[in-house]
Amino acid sequence: MHAIRFTTYGDPTVLELAEIPEPTPGPGEALIRVAATTFNPVDATLRAGYLQRQFPLDLPHIPGIDVSGVVTAVGAGVDRSLVGTTVLAFLPMNAAGAAADYVAAPANLLALAPTSVALVDAAALPSAGLTAWQALVEHASVHSGARVLVNGAGGGVGGFVVGLAKHLGAYVLATAGPRSRDAVRAAGADEIIDYTRTPVTEAVPEPVDVVINLVRNSATELVALRDRIADGGVLVSTTTPAEPDADRKVRAANVFARSDAQQLTHLAALVDGGALRLDISERYLLADLPRVHELGARGALRGKTVIQINA
Ligand SMILES: NC(=O)c1ccc[n+]([C@@H]2O[C@H](COP(=O)([O-])OP(=O)(O)OC[C@H]3O[C@@H](n4cnc5c(N)ncnc54)[C@H](OP(=O)(O)O)[C@@H]3O)[C@@H](O)[C@H]2O)c1
Repeated sequence: MHAIRFTTYGDPTVLELAEIPEPTPGPGEALIRVAATTFNPVDATLRAGYLQRQFPLDLPHIPGIDVSGVVTAVGAGVDRSLVGTTVLAFLPMNAAGAAADYVAAPANLLALAPTSVALVDAAALPSAGLTAWQALVEHASVHSGARVLVNGAGGGVGGFVVGLAKHLGAYVLATAGPRSRDAVRAAGADEIIDYTRTPVTEAVPEPVDVVINLVRNSATELVALRDRIADGGVLVSTTTPAEPDADRKVRAANVFARSDAQQLTHLAALVDGGALRLDISERYLLADLPRVHELGARGALRGKTVIQINA
């Protein structure tokens, strides 16, 4: 099968197209014929070798933590009726990924794919959708009527945060530059702050209940954002570590997104019900993955970038 893999850590040029044997599903695993994977910022961090302590990789490594595809075989202990179903998963960070024709994935991580969108596009949902859900529901406990500020709404996670916050009944303020403005509006944002013109901290007139920070900002910038949160509110960050403000009872939470088949099934249902949109900016082919990593390094990507493998 075709796969993109790297044998040494480094810049995007370490990514090489290779012809390798198909994996065999082990006990508890399903073999998936990959329809698509996506690019996530963590793919670049893993490739560069910055996460070797947290996620040691067996080299050569195939990247790609999101997968959509069709189950073609199962290993011991897995229900055979899975074969032929269309599925999604957020794959383990340090296992062989989905930038390949086939991937063997733990069957307990699989959710049925939504049916209202192309299977290729459904790959946009797993890791970014789960990050958004866990930030809003598990960490921020967002409720109807809450004022939620999404900082970095133009990215892959941001579109899902905006859509899910609206679904939960929140009033949503979102930062977006000119290139992402329309997509963030379509995701459901009530107010959009163009961060390229006005610093977000100056553009939020009234305090908010929740800030979801998706931008790699400085500790000082994050404290300034926390100051825009009402007493008793919550700051959730996927990037820069968040600290609480004990005097004002502002909680802080840092997201470490995890795979969860039940939550992913719920997200797929929200897509099918029309409550959650996929913001897909570009679709590339497998051989384009090194170029996609280069574009990511230049900040040239927005929304979700899908890597189509077997349509
Ligand atoms: N901790 C975890 O478990 C976890 C999980 C998922 C992601 N993350 C991290 O969370 C971050 C967001 O992930 P992602 O996949 O959404 O990233 P992404 O798709 O790479 O985000 C790119 C977007 O960031 C926006 N942006 C850049 N600088 C900004 C600024 N100063 N203010 C507002 N927006 C800005 C840009 O918006 P415009 O297009 O509007 O300019 C761009 O579209 C990444 O750093 C990622 O590594 C962490």
